[in-house]
Amino acid sequence: MNIPVNKGNIIEGEIIDISHEGNGVVKLEGYTIFTEGGLIGDKVSVIITEIKKSYALGKTVKIIEPSKHRVDTKCSISDYCGGCSLQGLDYKMQLEFKTNKVKNDIKRIGGLDEVAIHNIIGMDNPNRYRNKVQIPVGMENGEAVIGFYKKGSHDIANIDTCVIQHDVADKAIGAIREYIKEFKIEPYDNKTGKGLLRHIIVKNSFKTGDTMVVLVTNGNILPHSDQFIKKLRDRIPELKTVIQNINTKKTNLVMGAKSQVIYGEEKIIDYIGNLKFYISAESFFQVNPVQTEVLYSKALEYADLKGNETVFDIYCGIGTISLFLAQKAKKVYGIESVNQAIKDAKENARINGIENVEFHSGNAEEIFPKLYEKGIKADVVVVDPPRKGCDPQVIDTIIKMKPEKVVYVSCNPSTLARDLKVLSENGFKVMEVQPVDMFPWTGHVESIILMTYCGSKEK
Ligand SMILES: C[S@@+](CC[C@H](N)C(=O)[O-])C[C@H]1O[C@@H](n2cnc3c(N)ncnc32)[C@H](O)[C@@H]1O
Repeated sequence: MNIPVNKGNIIEGEIIDISHEGNGVVKLEGYTIFTEGGLIGDKVSVIITEIKKSYALGKTVKIIEPSKHRVDTKCSISDYCGGCSLQGLDYKMQLEFKTNKVKNDIKRIGGLDEVAIHNIIGMDNPNRYRNKVQIPVGMENGEAVIGFYKKGSHDIANIDTCVIQHDVADKAIGAIREYIKEFKIEPYDNKTGKGLLRHIIVKNSFKTGDTMVVLVTNGNILPHSDQFIKKLRDRIPELKTVIQNINTKKTNLVMGAKSQVIYGEEKIIDYIGNLKFYISAESFFQVNPVQTEVLYSKALEYADLKGNETVFDIYCGIGTISLFLAQKAKKVYGIESVNQAIKDAKENARINGIENVEFHSGNAEEIFPKLYEKGIKADVVVVDPPRKGCDPQVIDTIIKMKPEKVVYVSCNPSTLARDLKVLSENGFKVMEVQPVDMFPWTGHVESIILMTYCGSKEK
């Protein structure tokens, strides 16, 4: 392919798409340039920073003509904060962009032309929808900074408020800022490995109001912790727990192995539908509670359980979908690679009095074929894989098992389309595709798909 640019060139073009990583996509003579900064419809000049075989990377240096889809954003740092790549884009346009992404990938990568793809289910109020924030603390020009990393860098974009978080996060950040200043708490420095405060995590339940604050520290001692807790309690009456997580390693991993409760309980309580979940400092939980119920209700609708079915929930996390479905199925098997998540899943089953679930810890590509070889067959297989999609062994086992239905929950339309193609070529028919907007103002695209087995049973 002819590469029409060199490193250091400045080119002009229009951003026609946003990549998974949140970069603008500009085409020049059919060649793709991913640029940092800008929104769909912006006419931009871009400096080329790196040339690859089939694409180049660049940085937007100027917006020559702003997109007609731009709206005033409530976020004052959206130009450089790496948190949301679609901040400033009209919400209607965000929804259109996400629906089109699913449609295009299923057509182009999946080769599936005839499939019914519904318009994405958006949020009535797409602001302050998140129940968890996890951000680093650092130092800039002698001042503590707390916020998301800036686009394409490890510098921190300082925030007082974040418009996609529940406002309890703002209150916690305010208290932490005051604590740092008053008691001269030293933020951690990535380069030297010195300093105390590394990360803060705030989790809360929209249903119970329970709030947890976690400080990740480079050391065991948290100076003036009583005064810190008082500051938090004064601002956040719903505060249930404060945890110190200790991470003294020079690593990109946010949390260390040891946690200690410095105020209140070890866990907070949240609900999805009628199900109760204990949330610990470490446990994964869906971050958009409103849309999680929309997504899981679709999963239930697509699975259409009558009570006699055996269900597999592959990539089950802490077992949220498994438990949702177990209420309507005969038996559910959940498989997940993170051991702690399986421990949480078992505990969640116990506190909800659900006994018809069996959770397996390990890689799905190993456990799922093994259970099939033991003679366990599912009527419905649910998969909710990470961004890279299902492992070929998982797809292969579904093909051999021939469940009546496959419900595929996906956070990446391209790997979804790749997997649907293989399943379609092996007797499964895509019946419905429903994108759900789980992450407004970001480029993340979630969808849920129903496939039914139509191929020959002899195959
Ligand atoms: C998108 S999350 C789904 C979580 C869960 N279904 C939910 O709704 O909360 C994907 C999950 O797959 C797990 N995972 C990643 N690779 C895996 C593998 N090879 N085998 C099993 N689980 C895996 C991750 O730890 C993560 O919990």
